[in-house]
Amino acid sequence: MRPRVFITRRLPQPALDLILPVCDAEVWQDELPPPRQILLDKVREVEGVLCLLTDKMDAAVMDHAPRLRVISNCAVGYDNIDVPAATQRGIAVGNTPGVLTETTADFAFALLLAAARRIVEGERYTRAGKWKTWGLTTLLGHDVFGATLGLIGLGRIGTAVARRARGFEMRILYYDLQRNPEAEEQLGLIYADLDTVVREADFLSLHTPLTDTTRHLINAETLRKMKKTAILINTARGPIVDQVALYNALREGVIAGAALDVTDPEPIPLDDPLLALDNCIITPHIASASVATRTKMAMLAAQNLLAGVRGEPLPYPVNPEVRARQTI
Ligand code: DGY
Repeated sequence: MRPRVFITRRLPQPALDLILPVCDAEVWQDELPPPRQILLDKVREVEGVLCLLTDKMDAAVMDHAPRLRVISNCAVGYDNIDVPAATQRGIAVGNTPGVLTETTADFAFALLLAAARRIVEGERYTRAGKWKTWGLTTLLGHDVFGATLGLIGLGRIGTAVARRARGFEMRILYYDLQRNPEAEEQLGLIYADLDTVVREADFLSLHTPLTDTTRHLINAETLRKMKKTAILINTARGPIVDQVALYNALREGVIAGAALDVTDPEPIPLDDPLLALDNCIITPHIASASVATRTKMAMLAAQNLLAGVRGEPLPYPVNPEVRARQTI
């Protein structure tokens, strides 16, 4: 019997080529995620699900799937999955770490530069026919070279952003639950408490997972501590920032600007007031979106899926203890 799997979106062909010869796979063809009721129906008979971060895999979904052995998320973040519920039910969860690090860091740095130098505003200005002459004070931005970068979270992506910042001779402060003396030495990073990083950063870039502790980590109080000239960059998860507080801070000049690749909710509703602000860049969660990286992510997700339906340890496990339990 070939294992049955549900794949919640079309995947790059190399990943499908791994899965289709060995599984009975149903691939959801729509651009939008399967609606909740359909998801519940589709998982009923399957041993494996390969999903995206837009698919909420909670206990109710798992309870509709008595045969489910593996949930393979095609993303490194997995806040869309109730991992404790999966572990309790003996369901292995996998993600796609590593392969998107450099691509995401490139994008975080691109947002930093774009916000600092008002690139998006400048482009709109040109198209709107406002460029009448070379103006001494037209669209003045902030220097990146030599400025202070504050990183919240020094995992793979935070570290990769730090490497880029060194090329701009930035002073780099970071806060993480764990210190990383090796990165401090190699990259000249300075460890500081959260408050100091927030207060001293010219650019504050977020690189933490979304957890109960990091939800609204950036709120009205944090924003008030930031420099008036500071710019916030978020390529991690939208709910880490209290968006209402951010809107107020940007409108009232508490901080100078923001660049968000992630919002809360996603997609951001068209009537969200943040979209009316010139000093806020918003992109549609595309930091890892290069052809090569998205293909690599799908390949890792396919490998996790196949290992899971075969009852083998996942190559990229989120809850490796599940396998241990199965073999006892
Ligand atoms: C992830 O993988 O978690 C990103 O948000 C999308 O690449």
